[in-house]
Amino acid sequence: MWHIEACCNYIISLLSYPVESCSGWVNLVRCIRKLVRFFDSIKGSLMKSFYVTALSLALGMFASVSAEGDLATVVENCNGCHGDDGVSQWSDVPTIAGVPEYVHADALYFFRDEERPCSESEYKQGDTSRPATTMCAAVADLSDEMLDELAAYYFELPFVAAQQEFDAGLAAAGKAVHDESCDKCHSEGGSNPDDEAGILAGQWMGYLEATFAEYASGAREQDKKMKEKMDALSDADTTALIHYYASQQ
Ligand code: HEC
Ligand code: HEC
Repeated sequence: MWHIEACCNYIISLLSYPVESCSGWVNLVRCIRKLVRFFDSIKGSLMKSFYVTALSLALGMFASVSAEGDLATVVENCNGCHGDDGVSQWSDVPTIAGVPEYVHADALYFFRDEERPCSESEYKQGDTSRPATTMCAAVADLSDEMLDELAAYYFELPFVAAQQEFDAGLAAAGKAVHDESCDKCHSEGGSNPDDEAGILAGQWMGYLEATFAEYASGAREQDKKMKEKMDALSDADTTALIHYYASQQ
């Protein structure tokens, strides 16, 4: 397994592509995805302009070709919906502060490729006259480098559990379901960023409800082993789980 990763990193380094995030088991898949994306992007650019691509590749400046503004400007746009420092005050918008870096980056890639459902959303703060938009549109024009930077930036900020109402009885039932079916990958009640499986504990109920529905309908892809566990849940289990995650404040 390690040779595949070493080989993958070697090819990427030949292509003068950033390799710093390609190490360890978790990142092997991600590394391969990067390669695939890299070749896809070359294919797209080839059609537009072979020479610009070749020249910028040769100079190792592939990233600087895009004009996307700096991190602070992009972050301001994100926080218009996700809240100051990525801590949401709105049940339908997830808190993104403290979300594990690779999970966050992957989510952004999926949105950019329109491989994950993105609902239309109003801006919640700042200039609220900006027209409603979607997650897919918010990242549509951002480079891989910017998506990685955003994921790293938000990971450094503290996750703050949402203050929301929950039913204590349902939460207790949900804990039992979680411990049985989910804790293996979402340890410490779904609060451990080292799992690289998102943060469930203290996330907003509205977002969790929408997410469970997307998994159930197949609109959002999920880990095969997780799907087995999710498919086995009753509606009552799902409701109980959501109250359990909401109860961790
Ligand atoms: C117009 C509002 C809006 C803007 C702007 C916006 N988001 Fe979102 N974001 C949402 C909503 C709503 C969701 C919930 C999923 C959905 O409906 O698309 C979401 C979901 C996410 C998720 C998934 C969270 C998870 O745990 O899987 C991430 C990550 C994210 N946004 C990051 C960002 C970043 C980074 C930016 C800035 C580039 C951004 N968002 C800009 C509204 C927005
Ligand atoms: C085999 C490991 C595994 C198991 C078991 C598992 N999950 Fe997951 N889960 C993951 C991974 C990995 C991710 C992040 C995937 C991604 O980025 O889309 C995830 C993501 C999620 C998310 C989305 C988080 C977000 O921020 O959008 C929810 C909700 C979730 N899991 C709930 C559950 C529940 C409930 C169970 C138990 C019934 C469960 N998972 C069991 C691995 C697992």
